[in-house]
Amino acid sequence: MRADFSPPGRGEERRHTPGSSELAVAFRRLGDLAVAHAARGTGAPAFRRAPADALGRLCDIPDHGRPLDEALETLLSDAMAYGMDTGHRRFFAFIPSPASPLSWLGDLAASIHNRHAGSELQSEGATAVERGLIRFLCDAVGYGAGSGGLFVSGGSMANLAGLCLARDRRLTRDERPRGVVYLTRETHASVAKALRVIGFFDDQIRMIATDDALRMEPAALAEAVAEDRANGARPFAVAASAGTTNTGAIDPLAEIADICESEDLWLHVDGAYGASVALSPAHRACLTGIERADSLSWDAHKWLFQTYGCGVLLARDAGQLPGSFALTSDYLRDGAAEGVEPNFWDLGPELTRPDRAARLWLTLQVMGRSGVGRAIARGISLAEAAERAVRGTPGWRIVSPAQLAILVFRYAPEGLSDEAADAVNAAAARRLMEDGFAVVGTTRVGGRLCLRMCAIHPDATDEDMEETVARLDALAREIAAP
Ligand SMILES: Cc1ncc(COP(=O)(O)O)c(C=O)c1O
Repeated sequence: MRADFSPPGRGEERRHTPGSSELAVAFRRLGDLAVAHAARGTGAPAFRRAPADALGRLCDIPDHGRPLDEALETLLSDAMAYGMDTGHRRFFAFIPSPASPLSWLGDLAASIHNRHAGSELQSEGATAVERGLIRFLCDAVGYGAGSGGLFVSGGSMANLAGLCLARDRRLTRDERPRGVVYLTRETHASVAKALRVIGFFDDQIRMIATDDALRMEPAALAEAVAEDRANGARPFAVAASAGTTNTGAIDPLAEIADICESEDLWLHVDGAYGASVALSPAHRACLTGIERADSLSWDAHKWLFQTYGCGVLLARDAGQLPGSFALTSDYLRDGAAEGVEPNFWDLGPELTRPDRAARLWLTLQVMGRSGVGRAIARGISLAEAAERAVRGTPGWRIVSPAQLAILVFRYAPEGLSDEAADAVNAAAARRLMEDGFAVVGTTRVGGRLCLRMCAIHPDATDEDMEETVARLDALAREIAAP
């Protein structure tokens, strides 16, 4: 019989679980990697292209197992090492994911125990942690007694679950074909996608006009609702944004809540990105009105420094969740709730669900609420530093000032046509990314191609922001030169 520490050679039968010494080596390797990754400095590239031959190797699945250390090395060096490093401190595109090493640890611990977080009986500890965190997040946004929610995979799923509630609480079955929802063109695409998934057609969505700061115009909303009612449609929900992806704009939540109240509309707030500022006392006021949302999306894998797959849906009245999501089956009875609180599998779309809360719990335990709040506030001041750098660089224009850590700007010197400037900005962002120094995104605002920085990595420095702007300037001038 083979001793634990002698791994089988290539082609030999393996047991389900590798031996303990083999495992210990592999986990140590991962631990070393984690520490090195956490300490990756300013020299590490924010983007790495895979060499042509690296990825092809990944498609081979061997008939017989191979040594763990060898397979792990392939995984780390070929499968994991390439692409955009969204946790790099100079990754400013999309919504970055500056996941804390504490989140990696919590995630790994949850993965090892692999509790089924659908029912309390299957995961008493994980359920208690999740309930505690949901309470904490509800309190942070000003939700009162009776509020609640659950962890989901991210903002898209939270938006979908929130809109399911809206549909089920505000429309009868017969009214569904006439149901109408109100968004703006700045609302994240996952909202329209969610509506499609839950059975609405695109012509049941109204795009409400926005003001100069790209926030929903409450007067236009009220007008659209009145017009729809007059035409026999059945307005039932508004999806407002607390931090749009494009510019960080926050819709006027309190005014929209007034309209929803008087018109009996469900208010869903997509705070996937921006709700995190609720934890920064200095910035919390910009979310005023969020506590009136019937449902709210909040992604921990964005600005709460968690690894991907960690979002939250909150509901002002959590008692409404089972109405949309509870299920019963004979084969589930063994895990059924015994106390008064329903199981998480009755509160959202998933049955089997991983323990997503452990990583955020560990992060908050170690950093504390104030530490996380300071890390969030840091992002806001980084974007302001970038704005100062852009304002101080001739030929550049601020398109949307720093707002919730997002800055939109554009190289547009005198004498360069709008179309030519579009091409120069796009090429400058591309070249910066290919160089690997930083990744800055592009978007369109007011029809023109702009550069966009979302600066939420708390370890980034003002110098990182200044150097990124300086490099963009040098690239733009070089590209635009005749
Ligand atoms: C404002 C907003 N809402 C929703 C989403 C979708 O979230 P997820 O990608 O976690 O599904 C995003 C993603 O960036 C977002 O920025």
